[in-house]
Amino acid sequence: DKLLTLNGPNLNLLGTREPAKYGLATLEELNSHLLEYAKKAEVDLQVFQSNSESELIDRIHAAAQENITFIIINPAAFTHTSVALRDALLGVKIPFIEVHLSNVHARDDFRKKSYFSDIAVGVITGLGPIGYELALQAALSYLGDKNS
Ligand code: DQA
Repeated sequence: DKLLTLNGPNLNLLGTREPAKYGLATLEELNSHLLEYAKKAEVDLQVFQSNSESELIDRIHAAAQENITFIIINPAAFTHTSVALRDALLGVKIPFIEVHLSNVHARDDFRKKSYFSDIAVGVITGLGPIGYELALQAALSYLGDKNS
């Protein structure tokens, strides 16, 4: 199986961005942990971050061409705004898990609305960087169950 993690806008600032909410780990550190985990599990994992909605949509379209079988996505602020990203995921029919570093339900009211949660396999929110690892573990179990 080939998996892809997508990180949305401002997540390139991790480490210095509101560390009380998002922690001190940089995106590079987070990704390298995740890639190590994937290597151990012998799974092909690609990572992509963009601040641009159109680039994220194009990456999702390309994922379908590349036969990516599962996506782990933190849509960041697009979580609460983007019908277009939602439609892209529906369009390629690639199952995905939605991840948030912070607990979006414990913050501003506008963060309680997600355009992704109802079409996700599952949602992990508020557990920090380990949430991505848990998502990867859950994705492998989901794919394994599907293949068996
Ligand atoms: C976030 C939560 C979003 O509300 C916010 O806009 C982000 C990050 C998180 O990982 O906690 O940029 O997705």
